[in-house]
Amino acid sequence: MSTPTRLPLSFSERGPGGEAPRPPMPTPSSVTVHAPATIANVGCGFDVLGLCLTAPYDVVRLTRRDQPGLTIRHLDDYDLPTDPNRNVAGAALLALLRAVPEPLGFEVEITKGIRPGSGIGSSAASAAGAVVAANALLGNRFSHKELIDMAMYGEAVASGVRHADNIAPAICGGFTLVRAVQPVLDVVALPAPALWVAVVHPQFEVKTKEARAVLPTSVPLSLAVRQWANVGGLVAGFLTHDNELIARALEDYIVEPARASLIPGLGDAKRLALEAGALGGGISGSGPSIFMLNKDEATAHAAAEALGSVYRKMGIDFHLHVGPIASQGARVVSEE
Ligand code: HSE
Repeated sequence: MSTPTRLPLSFSERGPGGEAPRPPMPTPSSVTVHAPATIANVGCGFDVLGLCLTAPYDVVRLTRRDQPGLTIRHLDDYDLPTDPNRNVAGAALLALLRAVPEPLGFEVEITKGIRPGSGIGSSAASAAGAVVAANALLGNRFSHKELIDMAMYGEAVASGVRHADNIAPAICGGFTLVRAVQPVLDVVALPAPALWVAVVHPQFEVKTKEARAVLPTSVPLSLAVRQWANVGGLVAGFLTHDNELIARALEDYIVEPARASLIPGLGDAKRLALEAGALGGGISGSGPSIFMLNKDEATAHAAAEALGSVYRKMGIDFHLHVGPIASQGARVVSEE
């Protein structure tokens, strides 16, 4: 009997470098994800620009279970809803479950490292962390774009609007531009600019719904022109590493003036941080956090100290975060 001829491996059987196939990895039954804070708007880019931070982050653990559906537990003190339809991670996971043909069930444990209502993407982190964890349990069958689309259902629970400017950087990392949400999601993920971020989080809450309610429903064309000139300038500045252009473009003529009264100390905090050497900044997302971008770590610490000094003088508790822009978004840190 002749020996059967082994056909050459097809492209799909070989690894990306053409190497021999590896045995399939066993699928984990439980994964833990760190899902980072993010800065939405980045000054002039209301609802379209976002940056990923390295910290703080939520910890989301998903475990497969036999019974279809979700159970959610919060291992923190924020008293957030655990009904999947009213929980940001739950709403995102329900969207994912609708997209898979097989009946699946997950136990979800969330430990919030990002305080809700802080303006640094707390709801986006939990929603993004949940779908990234589920995707890992499913052999990474969904793309970043599909995961962003699912996680946006979490944002709708939190603020009534399926916006992606926190979700996109929380999943892709770096710097993201949401060119369109409708009719088709169009997200441009760009490399993280080599800048350092200083964030002050004064310990009071601004609800995104309320911060959106104060916004104008129409804007004069002259202001719109200045605003989109800055959006273009900021994106160009990030891509060409032009810090002077970034500094000139970090100005929001439309949204920040409308929200400034919700954030006492905003003007002084920005002024002192600029004097300390920051390139520029503004309200992070819908506030109350304030971010400043900086050319290096030392300047970021000086800017953070300046931001904090304003709230210390006002007798308002605050947290400071200093770190580089993160190149990676929500990531699996352990599998079992
Ligand atoms: N772009 C949104 C807003 C972000 O400013 O309302 C909310 O975090």
